[in-house]
Amino acid sequence: MHILVTGGSGYIGSHTCLELLQAGYQVSVVDNLCNSSQESLARVSRLTGKKISFFRVDLLDPSGLDEVFQKQTFDAVIHFAGLKAVGESVGKPLVYYQNNVTGTINLCEVMQRHGVRDIVFSSSATVYGIPESLPLTESAPTLINLITNPYGRSKLILEFVLRDWQAANPDFNVALLRYFNPVGAHGSGEIGEDPNGIPNNLLPYVSQVAVGQLPRLKIFGGDYETKDGTGVRDYIHVVDLAIGHVQALDRLRQNPGVVTYNLGTGNGYSVLEVVSAFEKASGQTIAYEIVGRRAGDIAACYADPSLAKSELGWVAERGLDEMCADGWRWQSMNPHGFPMAGK
Ligand code: NAD
Ligand code: WQD
Repeated sequence: MHILVTGGSGYIGSHTCLELLQAGYQVSVVDNLCNSSQESLARVSRLTGKKISFFRVDLLDPSGLDEVFQKQTFDAVIHFAGLKAVGESVGKPLVYYQNNVTGTINLCEVMQRHGVRDIVFSSSATVYGIPESLPLTESAPTLINLITNPYGRSKLILEFVLRDWQAANPDFNVALLRYFNPVGAHGSGEIGEDPNGIPNNLLPYVSQVAVGQLPRLKIFGGDYETKDGTGVRDYIHVVDLAIGHVQALDRLRQNPGVVTYNLGTGNGYSVLEVVSAFEKASGQTIAYEIVGRRAGDIAACYADPSLAKSELGWVAERGLDEMCADGWRWQSMNPHGFPMAGK
């Protein structure tokens, strides 16, 4: 089976390409390299001993995308390509809606033209907005006006676009995967997250403090109603997440129509617990100070992942210590990320 992975040179995409190759799939990648380096895929090929066909194409270029589908025949698409910086999306909403929404519509049109009927889509726990209760099941409300930024709204809009598309084309199959907080890296330390500039997310920030590139972590809020006052999240190892995509492809082959799964561990860890686990994994002290809350943040968010277990047979197997140990291995082996990152 031949899978097209859009955004495949990025963080989650590169880990998923590796798992797909190891599971015996043939893999092609479309990416415009706006937030990644082709070096990630060179390393995936080295680690697996298998080739990946790479197409530097922008999803906003429908004819470029069509040419890819003319050259190769695909059995399914895993669609990661998108912009994902929450803060940036507030300042550049049109860029985010155009890239994420129009890019996905272009992809669906090309898939339809070429009779490719299965798509796995990167959604996010951000579609739940401010949770009414925890843990979050897939049937929790997703109200667009409770989502605090254009990035998150683009994900919920795309869930509806894909649902409507499938309803009009009942032979098509869509898996909406709602990721919680992906962290860590492949156990080899060869691929991992390579953020642009100063990281916005907790784990990359903590790793850069541990490696000495940033002086101290600012903890956003110490007065939430949580176990220790700091924010609680469901961190999930990126390798578990990648494996979830391979299992979602199997599910789509049963022609289920639209399926939606939370991909999380079901465990909530506070910022202070993450800091302490990272100190243990790295042997470094993480300097931090507690500052005011970050606008748009919620106190706590974690998944009920039981539907993915019962329907996909998928369970996140790697715990917080392994997430930190693997994240640290990647960071310490690659303190400046990928060489010649295409950014
Ligand atoms: P990433 O930035 O590392 O990967 C996204 C890839 O898409 C990049 O390689 C980028 O170059 C490419 N891309 C962006 N726009 C494109 C376009 N128009 N045409 C072609 N390529 C394009 O991000 P990631 O963390 O690997 O995230 C992958 C997907 O998962 C994204 O859709 C993101 O919104 C979603 N997601 C991520 C997280 C997270 O915390 N990392 C959580 C939930 C959902
Ligand atoms: C985690 C916790 C912060 C940085 C974001 C997106 C979400 C999804 C995943 C894509 C929170 C605290 C963080 C720092 C801190 N992405 N923190 N100091 O906000 O849960 O989710 O990434 O879909 O849409 O919103 O993740 O890693 O930014 O924050 O104290 O420097 O760490 O307040 O409690 P978040 P995060």
